Amino acid sequence: MKNAGFDDLDLLSTAIVLMDDKGCLVHVNAAGENLLGCSVALIAGHRLNDIVGDSSEADRLIAECGARQFSVKRLQMAWQLAGRGMQVLDTTVTVVEEPRILASIELREPDAFQRIDREERQAALMQMNQLLLRNLGHEVKNPLGGIRGAAQLLDAELPTRALKEYTEVIIKESDRLQSLVDQMLAPVRRSLTKSSVNIHSVLERVRTLVLSEFPKGLKVIRDYDTSLPEMQGDSEQLIQMALNIVRNAAEAVQGVGTIWLKTRVSRQVTLHRRRYRLALSLSIRDDGPGIPEAIRDEIFYPLVSGNPKGHGLGLTIAQTIVHQHGGVIVCRSESTGTEFLILMPLGGPLPAQV
Ligand SMILES: Nc1ncnc2c1ncn2[C@@H]1O[C@H](COP(=O)(O)OP(=O)(O)OP(=O)(O)O)[C@@H](O)[C@H]1O
Ligand SMILES: [Mg+2]
Repeated sequence: MKNAGFDDLDLLSTAIVLMDDKGCLVHVNAAGENLLGCSVALIAGHRLNDIVGDSSEADRLIAECGARQFSVKRLQMAWQLAGRGMQVLDTTVTVVEEPRILASIELREPDAFQRIDREERQAALMQMNQLLLRNLGHEVKNPLGGIRGAAQLLDAELPTRALKEYTEVIIKESDRLQSLVDQMLAPVRRSLTKSSVNIHSVLERVRTLVLSEFPKGLKVIRDYDTSLPEMQGDSEQLIQMALNIVRNAAEAVQGVGTIWLKTRVSRQVTLHRRRYRLALSLSIRDDGPGIPEAIRDEIFYPLVSGNPKGHGLGLTIAQTIVHQHGGVIVCRSESTGTEFLILMPLGGPLPAQV
């Protein structure tokens, strides 16, 4: 394979190093050159041992890859970075069946890796919580109809305006509870209707909707990778997902600020323990004040809100929809802004390797 065959790896924002069966580095993409601080010409031909901190760990890894002891392995490894010395990076090693290539090694600054890992662990817990909530939602829904109906009948019988005020409270609060329960049940109420979806059409719809809701002072900057293939998904649900996140961002900047919508292709991505050749990487970022620190770790849980008018369901629903599309969503927030990163598969998973 000529180096030209690796050109599209340069489009990735993730650093990728390709290694052959002797443990020699065959290629490093542009993001990898950036991270390691040296060019592909300098790295190519060197052994993995030359640029990681622990040579015996490198030998072990090469041997394990050669023996196909795993298909994907995540570990923390120290790498020699020009100008930064030894740095521990989140390292995902994927054994690949390509001529001359034994493994693709994905490098990330530790934070992103931990966030994805933690998100996957929390997802399992969340699923249980959501099941519990949904059951509770169903339990509440039925008697609620009865309460509202009875209050209406009573309202018609009551002789004075003053007394009717009480039944009005019952009716109004029942309606509020009803709409809360409806939203809690929304993502599972109908199954997904999947078809080919252009994510940019989805984002354009969301952009128009949010700009019409916040007409003054909101800027939405698009940075789309137009070479992205279409994905299999439910376009209405995907609109709902993106809208919930973008609307939060617009609310966070109080209608005056900037939101960035960025799409890219990611390659050789592991999502929920399955490996995909291609995935969509969607970043939704704003320059708002950040998520209140007290709720930063809990925003995907139902009913967690920092907004007095909010239900605390927008992000729970967004996360459910991303999961239903086989993806993950992670969030990074600081006092200068917030970014949601969503990875969703493009195409089916690769067959598991032995
Ligand atoms: N981009 C953001 N910047 C700052 N805070 C945010 C951002 N996105 C979410 N949040 C915080 O996370 C909380 C939870 O968001 P979520 O969308 O789940 O609920 P909500 O917006 O409060 O209510 P709703 O169910 O009506 O959407 C928000 O109330 C807000 O405090
Ligand atoms: Mg919201």
